[in-house]
Amino acid sequence: MPEPTRQELEHWDRQIVWHPFTQMAEYEPLILERAEGCMLVDIDGNRYLDGVSSLWCNIHGHRHPRLDAAIREQLQRVAHVTSLGSSNPTTIKLAKRLVDLAPPGLGHVFFSDDGATAVEVAIKMAFQYWRQRPEPRPEKTCYLALGEAYHGDTLGAVSVGGVERFHAMFRPLLFETLRAPAPDTYRLPKGVSREGALAYYLGQLEQLLAEHHRRIAAMVVEPLVQCAAGMIVHAPGYLRGVRELTRRYDVLLIADEVAVGMGRTGRLFACEHEGVSPDLLCLAKGLTGGYLPLGATLATDEIWQAFLGSYAESKAFFHGHTYGGNPLGAAVALATLEVFEEEQTLARLEPKIAGLGEHLERIARRPHVGDVRQRGLIGAVELVRDRASKEPYPWAEKRGIRVCQFARTQGVLLRPLGNVLVIMPPLAITPDELDRICTAVEQGIVAVTEGEEG
Ligand SMILES: Cc1ncc(COP(=O)(O)O)c(C=O)c1O
Repeated sequence: MPEPTRQELEHWDRQIVWHPFTQMAEYEPLILERAEGCMLVDIDGNRYLDGVSSLWCNIHGHRHPRLDAAIREQLQRVAHVTSLGSSNPTTIKLAKRLVDLAPPGLGHVFFSDDGATAVEVAIKMAFQYWRQRPEPRPEKTCYLALGEAYHGDTLGAVSVGGVERFHAMFRPLLFETLRAPAPDTYRLPKGVSREGALAYYLGQLEQLLAEHHRRIAAMVVEPLVQCAAGMIVHAPGYLRGVRELTRRYDVLLIADEVAVGMGRTGRLFACEHEGVSPDLLCLAKGLTGGYLPLGATLATDEIWQAFLGSYAESKAFFHGHTYGGNPLGAAVALATLEVFEEEQTLARLEPKIAGLGEHLERIARRPHVGDVRQRGLIGAVELVRDRASKEPYPWAEKRGIRVCQFARTQGVLLRPLGNVLVIMPPLAITPDELDRICTAVEQGIVAVTEGEEG
């Protein structure tokens, strides 16, 4: 096949490639061809700072020499072998490394392909666990999740998800999930103060657990920040409260760290901030530094034990994905963890987190900024039509998208969540690059909410 022209690529990208979460009738191709560090380069040679880490997964930058080399080295041995009944040294080493680093008690790793499958695995493991443990509780078949939750797009993950715009369409296909309110500290229920928020939300959760715990297999939460929900930052102490309540009511806790894990919040795992060990922990995205698809579900020994038995007992976990535990993914995941140590990524993140905070504080003064939120290197700016009433801009006005379009003219690539602008660059971003991203966001906000367009 001869090398296609630029026009052909664009045409095929519009007509043949079906992009996720994208209205293809309006899609304007952006074809990224290369990258260096935190900079992406399109087919015309235009350069963009990767302001959302290629959808929240890049950690140490693109084309990191250590990560590139890890994949090349693994390629010299084997690209893929199955995990169904066999193994590979690289995948085994990664599993060992993960259990050594993870919150205490998580001694076993089930590999899958991505975030959604890591969550599916946790959901199904929880279900099967209750049926097979020494004192079975087969009535535990229902799940508890948070309002606005997003855990991926396969049907189990959608069942525990609660983002109306994405999930309402599929409701007839989903299993039952009870929903506790998202512990949102910006849009508080009537009569609840910021100071009273933690007690209120934990109280709501306890009511649900008290009433339904007998039939709840597990509660699924994204620790500290509900990312796709619009970067809803939880009241401090909420996660710890969830852990205490789920223990008290004999409900498993699934921590979905697909987005918040791998250093994003300033610690390797978000659960560490509140000293929490979940029963199941889901990882993906940054697990491979943002290089290759790989999911991991970590489980406690108690859960693992419930699946042991003779072949004839049929107690194995009947779930698997062809590429689960793929050695190339495992190689780059191991290298990603090594780079965290070699480059002291987390220690060097602290001033960047502080820098992001300063930018957000300034941006918060713009008249159409309702709220700014931050946790680690996750920054969010919520645009509102009216600050006092917190009235959102109508979805169809595409304010967030328009700010990002402006930022792109400044060489910064972003992707909003409705009216919420997301600043989530690779952890390797330099302070100067971070300044450029935040400046582009602020200028975009001014242009789209205060300028002629506003
Ligand atoms: C918290 C959370 N869980 C699960 C997923 C799904 O991950 P993936 O897109 O790799 O399937 C995402 C993706 O954004 C996520 O943010």
